[in-house]
Amino acid sequence: MPKFGTISNMDSQSETKPEKVKSRNETDQTNFETAAYKDAYSRINAIVIEGEQEAYKNYIKLAEMLPNDQDELIKLSKMENRHKKGFEACGRNLHVKPDMEFAKKFFEPLHKNFQIAAATGNVVACLLIQSLIIECFAIAAYNIYIPVADPFARKITESVVKDEYKHLNFGEVWLKEYFKDSKEEIQKANRQNLPIVWKMLNQVEKDAKALDMEKDALIEDFMIAYGEALDNIGFTTREIMRMSAYGLVAA
Ligand SMILES: [Fe+2]
Ligand SMILES: [Fe+2]
Repeated sequence: MPKFGTISNMDSQSETKPEKVKSRNETDQTNFETAAYKDAYSRINAIVIEGEQEAYKNYIKLAEMLPNDQDELIKLSKMENRHKKGFEACGRNLHVKPDMEFAKKFFEPLHKNFQIAAATGNVVACLLIQSLIIECFAIAAYNIYIPVADPFARKITESVVKDEYKHLNFGEVWLKEYFKDSKEEIQKANRQNLPIVWKMLNQVEKDAKALDMEKDALIEDFMIAYGEALDNIGFTTREIMRMSAYGLVAA
């Protein structure tokens, strides 16, 4: 009897194995429709919409602060507004209502720090928060999202991410030009704001995973984009390492 039992166990295992693989493949193709996917999407989609809205307002503010770059900055703000509309369409396409209340809370610490910097005329901190940190956060998130997105969202995200590189470039070029005078302020703003990004990534880890986006990959992409930006601005490798380590304070 035990012998039969063993054989029948083996049989049932070998029968279920291919089926299990098949059903996993099927879920991969249709998981945009599951309740779990839509639930996570309601928060991720909201974060993206709120992030674009934040960027839109931040570039309008920066245009006021930098009259010489006003036209360019207004152009960037308009792009952000278009991005926001694109991502709103992504939510509608999946019949998901974005949880905007959650997203507002999610962005609150960075939003607050930008407002404080703007109120005191601290252009350097404003640029660091918007053009480096928020843009690199967007670039990392969108690059990781594109391969696992539904076809509609993929097309939109692919065109959006190209714009975000231009926005990051604006910050790099400006900060590079005034590097000597703004170096200390960049480091200070980095110390204050990089730990916030880490907390944001931790907060979103579970929902991102439900969309097949790994936190480690998000961190890696963020640090690559951010490190390259700091390098372009003029920081040495040693300084970039030291500045990057501030993210770990929050980990
Ligand atoms: Fe954007
Ligand atoms: Fe942007």
